[in-house]
Amino acid sequence: MSETRCLQGIWSSPWIFIFAASGAAVGLGNIWKFPYVLGENGGGAFLVVYCLCLLLVGLPVLVAEVALGRTVRSNPIDTVNDLSERHICHSAWVVVPWVAGITGFLILGFYSVIAGWAMAYLERALSGEFMGITSSVAISMFDDLKADPTEMLLWHSIFMVLVVLVVGQSVTRGLSTVVKILIPTLLLALVLMAAYSFSIGDVPSTLDFMFAWSWQDVTFDVVLSAIGMALFSLSIGMGAMFSYGAYISKHMSIARACSIVVAFDLIVAVLAGLVIFPLVFESQIDVQSGPSLTFVSLPIIFGNLIGGQFFAGIFFLLLVVAALTSAISMLELFVAWLHERFYVPRLNAAFVLGLAIWFIGVAVLLSFNHWDTEIVFGMNFFALLDNVTTYILLPIGAILLSVLMAWFMPRDMLLNEMITKNTDHFHWWYNVLKYISIPALVVITLAGWLGA
Ligand code: PFF
Repeated sequence: MSETRCLQGIWSSPWIFIFAASGAAVGLGNIWKFPYVLGENGGGAFLVVYCLCLLLVGLPVLVAEVALGRTVRSNPIDTVNDLSERHICHSAWVVVPWVAGITGFLILGFYSVIAGWAMAYLERALSGEFMGITSSVAISMFDDLKADPTEMLLWHSIFMVLVVLVVGQSVTRGLSTVVKILIPTLLLALVLMAAYSFSIGDVPSTLDFMFAWSWQDVTFDVVLSAIGMALFSLSIGMGAMFSYGAYISKHMSIARACSIVVAFDLIVAVLAGLVIFPLVFESQIDVQSGPSLTFVSLPIIFGNLIGGQFFAGIFFLLLVVAALTSAISMLELFVAWLHERFYVPRLNAAFVLGLAIWFIGVAVLLSFNHWDTEIVFGMNFFALLDNVTTYILLPIGAILLSVLMAWFMPRDMLLNEMITKNTDHFHWWYNVLKYISIPALVVITLAGWLGA
């Protein structure tokens, strides 16, 4: 691999990687998406299957992605070219980073609009609009936002400018300092909010919904949703974690670091559920209400709390920062590649790519109002983008990347380069990836497409 293409610098401690990767993983997926997907999929059974998916698919694929990054220490696109020059794989595998990058692009197109909702709610929180709010007012507040393309456009544009500036100024890696504060604060805020939500909400129904399950609730749709959610939530299958893996030291246990990232990600998601569902049941909000669930229930929680205006402000600020640290990881891949390979200034690359994503976001936000028409299979543009990325592109990226690691990279090379201390971890990871994660991803994804 040519020296010029190698990335410079190594993270000084495993915790810096853990925080950076957690910053990419923890975001709107945990607080906005997980609760409503849990709601749509019946609760407890989904949670059990989701945990299994994290363990048997999410963690092994995350380790594979990070480990490939560390093994080659380059950007994903050049990596495949280098591997093909070394006759490890065919040059056609270059399709993998392209699929990954395009997935990130499309996800960011709608992610930015949802992050815009969080910003709009930050503004409403600070101006005291949640005070004494009832569930019907909370529902119409959210409906009003979705019906107003101008306001959504404003927040979406501000969010994209922030993403472009952060990625363009090359401070992406510096953000692990922000995440070091963000994750513990977010955890603390969620624990306090869950305690408060338990004190005013319907606890028995929540515990029953989230933790009771039976085998007949485990349907194929539940498994499919859980796999999609795991890939989305851990940000895998699209090169973001690869880019972070490229900076970690040879002596760090990837398995351990990735397990901590998965644990953080799961804890934040479950806590978000524990915050939201007591209120959802107490206020008789429909658990199946989909993407609006979080944005309708949170204002009610804050609206009835002493000092709620202040706490709501802090919480939505944390949510926006969490969304930002995830969003930048989606843009980083192509910007890094354009910069390293073609010497395009980072800011220019980020601006051009960000502009293209901004246009996708405009179509998304219009699909909540003026353009809320069916495009295919009863889905509008937002639903189409969400489903195509979650159930088609992310699984394809994850499968191809895992196959490359498990079936093409020489096993000895992986063993020597990747695992420094514990060979048991290596064998566990390698066999699970090869014989469980990949077949599970292939079978479930294919069955999902055929049944769609
Ligand atoms: N994992 C992020 C979240 O849960 O909000 C979303 C995400 C970020 C998906 C980065 C994909 C990605 F590359």
